[in-house]
Amino acid sequence: MAEFIGGVGTSHVPSIGAAIDHGKTQDPYWKPLFDGVKPARDWIEAAKPDVVIVVYNDHASRFGLDMTPTFAIGVGDQFAPHDEGYGPRPIPSCQGDPAFAWHLVESLVLKDEFDIAIVGEMSVDHGLTVPLSLMFGQPQQWPCRVIPLCVNVIQYPQPTALRCFKLGQAIRRAIDSYGPDIKVAVLGTGGMSHQLQGERAGLINTPYDQRWLAGMASDPHSLANIGHTELLREAGSEGLEIIMWLVMRGALNEAARLVHRFYHVPASNTAYGLLVLEDA
Ligand code: DHB
Ligand code: FE
Repeated sequence: MAEFIGGVGTSHVPSIGAAIDHGKTQDPYWKPLFDGVKPARDWIEAAKPDVVIVVYNDHASRFGLDMTPTFAIGVGDQFAPHDEGYGPRPIPSCQGDPAFAWHLVESLVLKDEFDIAIVGEMSVDHGLTVPLSLMFGQPQQWPCRVIPLCVNVIQYPQPTALRCFKLGQAIRRAIDSYGPDIKVAVLGTGGMSHQLQGERAGLINTPYDQRWLAGMASDPHSLANIGHTELLREAGSEGLEIIMWLVMRGALNEAARLVHRFYHVPASNTAYGLLVLEDA
């Protein structure tokens, strides 16, 4: 049977990908961030997942205002990096896992009433590729298969934090009911507090971010009941991305064990946050 091995929450700031691609991880600006990420890399290298389900948002790359699925899953066998205006990142395409992805879809739609969009062909932007680079560095091929799970956090009305948490619980039921012996990790991406536009551009709210980092392990139900108005006010317009971490948290058991927690400001104009959690 498939085995769930744990979850990672990480921001997906594009400049982190650029720092990796251009060999700048040991520069004074970036070294503290990459030092803080190292324990998560060590964890995933030891845990050796066969598949990672990456919960991320597309930033008007593959999808746009002409088509905005609330939740979408990639069932294809390859996902190439999207050209976000400066050429695709110099990274390998992700290998998908169509059999497992279709099992997830079936379980979500038929057993849990999550009518998720099914996507055969999709490119993936920094929301997915930067977390992969953070976890795995610059390999010739990614060390595991990747299933993209895309969440709309950019176009109103976005799903609630609670809905994301429940989606994670449904994903765990799907993992636990999959026959093949594979090890599965779930990555939640995006956040922490950040706002990229308007009068409040550059907003960073460290106390609020720390509250989320603390609550993810011990009190996810309180976080899942936070509304969008609070998130917008406290975490900024793009800070709403943090609801995707709750999909990852929902996949864990009620009692979670904190393996690693890290927070760093600044990463570009945002706060960077990282969590590694296992079932207690
Ligand atoms: C930036 C973009 C993002 O999607 C994000 O989550 C954080 C930062 C940026 O352009 O700096
Ligand atoms: Fe983003």
